[in-house]
Amino acid sequence: RILILDFGSQYTQLIARRVREAGVYCEIHPWDMDDAAIREFAPRGVILSGGPESVTAEETPRAPEAVFGLGVPVLGICYGMQTMAHQLGGRVETSSHHEYGYAQVRARGHSRLLKDIEDHTTPEGYGLLDVWMSHGDRVIEMPPGFRVIAETDNAPLAGMADDERGYYGVQFHPEVTHTRQGARILSRFIHDICGCEALWTPDNIIEDTVASVREQVGGDEVLLGLSGGVDSSVVAALLHRAIGDQLTCVFVDNGLLRHQEGDQVMATFAEHMGVKVIRVDAEDLFLGKLAGVSDPERKRKIIGNTFIEVFEAESEKLANVKWLAQGTIYPDVIESAGSKTGKAKVIKSHHNVGGLPEHMKLGLVEPLRELFKDEVRKIGVELGLPYDMVYRHPFPGPGLGVRILGEVEKAYADTLRLADHIFIEELRRHDLYDKVSQAFCVFLPVKSVGVTGDGRRYDYVVAMRAVETIDFMTARWAHLPYEFLDHVSRRIVNEVPRISRVVYDVTGKPPGTIEWE
Ligand code: XMP
Repeated sequence: RILILDFGSQYTQLIARRVREAGVYCEIHPWDMDDAAIREFAPRGVILSGGPESVTAEETPRAPEAVFGLGVPVLGICYGMQTMAHQLGGRVETSSHHEYGYAQVRARGHSRLLKDIEDHTTPEGYGLLDVWMSHGDRVIEMPPGFRVIAETDNAPLAGMADDERGYYGVQFHPEVTHTRQGARILSRFIHDICGCEALWTPDNIIEDTVASVREQVGGDEVLLGLSGGVDSSVVAALLHRAIGDQLTCVFVDNGLLRHQEGDQVMATFAEHMGVKVIRVDAEDLFLGKLAGVSDPERKRKIIGNTFIEVFEAESEKLANVKWLAQGTIYPDVIESAGSKTGKAKVIKSHHNVGGLPEHMKLGLVEPLRELFKDEVRKIGVELGLPYDMVYRHPFPGPGLGVRILGEVEKAYADTLRLADHIFIEELRRHDLYDKVSQAFCVFLPVKSVGVTGDGRRYDYVVAMRAVETIDFMTARWAHLPYEFLDHVSRRIVNEVPRISRVVYDVTGKPPGTIEWE
């Protein structure tokens, strides 16, 4: 396995994902991980990430000494290369030429890291690599034992290598896709230089997890709050494989789910896979508590608290349960070097551990704790979950509660479900569903005049929203074809009672948010 030490780069998680994609298990730890922990982790190789700091400043992060005492290969990326150069006896200076974005580096093929890896060849016989650069500092003097393996006009030392010890530094970012040969370079490091085999595959992940869950819970019973979302669904499938009937799922239908969602969850898990699922029909309870409430944050609180209440009541009926399963995934767990607030473990609030009765004293089972979302999806498919469920767009915990503006009423929810279903169905039919990151309809409780046939209509408005985003922190509205929007709009007005007008949301984030409330 590979250890990644995080110096706070925005790309650190990407490094880990690339290593995992290459079939090798890795973990991200903060740069100040202590020496004993590093030795115990016993990595086959170490990657030092980039980071925002300058090595030339007085007090900046350094790689722990243990890293260079392990006798295993080390790859420094960007800041990681600079601190490696500095710590091993080279020199780094703040450069007046900041490089950011695309660059071409001349690669000298004599090192094991870059040998025979190139995008183009110069007339003089140099390999050229198209790479993604982002740095202010640069190495001006290599440590003893190193040779130059890559250069640009601004950075004569854009890459260095000590093949003997297996130490490598690159000033560019092999983990981003703009560096076209990046995956090959990382694979060269992990497989050929560190000697790791590609064993981290969906099959093996499932096998390992099944074994460790069995060991953890023994013959005890486990409880899971199943939402129908990707993470809890994969946990259900995985635990069912591991412990069969010792797993009980509680699925709360709050009346704010998508079209036929409750029936689909039951069909997939209970009927098809034979998982024990208790379906709680709590629509009346939720809508009752929401009656007359229009403030978005109050609605969110009510929905969250009511969920806990229902879940608690159900769990109390299950006397023998000893464990609570959660869909925590790796990005929730990573202690980021960038976050100054520290190392608090993040627990997904919508899984409501905090809300369980004290006397139940449940232990936690978190079988996805080590996995990235793309890995969760892959094992979901491998476990036999429907592709459409595993690759579904995210859906907020409060559900349609925040997509019906203002007061929530059952009739509004029913109307919205139909319109949303048409939009999603057409996106799938036109092969657009996977091209957008999230798409849905929003119900606007305002009336607008329309005309159909001979009649005048005075009915509600539905907005379609579709966005493209990587991280959901910023997003661009999806530029869906006009003909497509036209088609969906006609279907909604024709087929959904009480809708007289359809609009398309052309607001980015910022300044808008993805949801309307
Ligand atoms: P916004 O609207 O903040 O949404 O741009 C960003 C992403 O978060 C989802 N979202 C939520 N998810 N509980 C959730 O579990 C919530 O209260 C909530 N609000 C927004 C939203 O769907 C989008 O993917």
